[in-house]
Amino acid sequence: MFPPLRAILPTLLSSTRLSPVDRLLAALDHGIRAVTTTPQSARPTPRPSGPGDPLDDAERRRAGALMRVDHVGEVCAQALYSAQALAAGNAALRRQFEHAAEEETDHLAWTAQRLAELGARPSLLNPLWYAGAFAIGLVAARSGDARSLGFLVETERQVERHLDGHLDRLPAADLASRAIVAQMKDDEAGHAIAAERAGASPLPSPARWAMRVAARVMTTTAHYV
Ligand SMILES: [Fe+2]
Ligand SMILES: [Fe+2]
Repeated sequence: MFPPLRAILPTLLSSTRLSPVDRLLAALDHGIRAVTTTPQSARPTPRPSGPGDPLDDAERRRAGALMRVDHVGEVCAQALYSAQALAAGNAALRRQFEHAAEEETDHLAWTAQRLAELGARPSLLNPLWYAGAFAIGLVAARSGDARSLGFLVETERQVERHLDGHLDRLPAADLASRAIVAQMKDDEAGHAIAAERAGASPLPSPARWAMRVAARVMTTTAHYV
């Protein structure tokens, strides 16, 4: 029986018995599952205290587009942490990545579930987003632990700001999406703080700028496709 998505990253991170080829195959397996299946979340889906007003068609479409973008972000998070898992330099770091990756898997499950509730579909380009994020994550991971952590801090901070923007743009009545996005935003902030404490070195301005441009291309495209 094949392991679920949730079990693959910890295997990649903690196993000392896997050969490099095994680890590569596990990373490939993880990627295919991340873009083709919906994982089970370990934590319950964040729910609002009340039901909220019903959404009209325009609000439902707007919420669906925003949640599709957030789901793409979580697909990319799977790719980034998988790349980190392949290349992380020490055991403490691997454990930290493992914890963050667990929460990212919850995010992937919650956003996929909310997309379905809204009658919206995931991005058709998810395999492309995953491959691109994996390649970027691998480059970052190969640049040394401090730089790699700096890349994670910058990524998580940008995602946190992006989710904050979505809280402004989601329909006021869509309490269910808001509850999910608010919890994800808190989690991403925690991932950034943990990476800072683990010894992240700040990224140079051009790298931060390039990451913002790449994120803008992804979020603008995923809104529609
Ligand atoms: Fe996330
Ligand atoms: Fe995160």
